Amino acid sequence: MSNRAINISLTVNGERVQGRVDARKTLVDYLRDDLSLTGSHVGCEHGVCGACTVRVDGEIVRGCLTCKRPSSNAMRCSAASALPAC
Ligand code: FES
Repeated sequence: MSNRAINISLTVNGERVQGRVDARKTLVDYLRDDLSLTGSHVGCEHGVCGACTVRVDGEIVRGCLTCKRPSSNAMRCSAASALPAC
């Protein structure tokens, strides 16, 4: 992990999550790699295909274009954790 790590605090699928992650990591990579929530996928990584779609604070966002907000206590994510991984 680079020295550009940030502390994060958020709620994912109703569960409180805290940790320290690389500031450059996207939301979809964080969900998949760090939380093992593999329902959202990485496809084009350009915001076009929608494979990485996640709901954040009620808004549909592209997880490949979204970085985590440091210490964002209000950030609430819904990831499709029940879908099988490809
Ligand atoms: S991976 Fe295609 S829109 Fe995010």
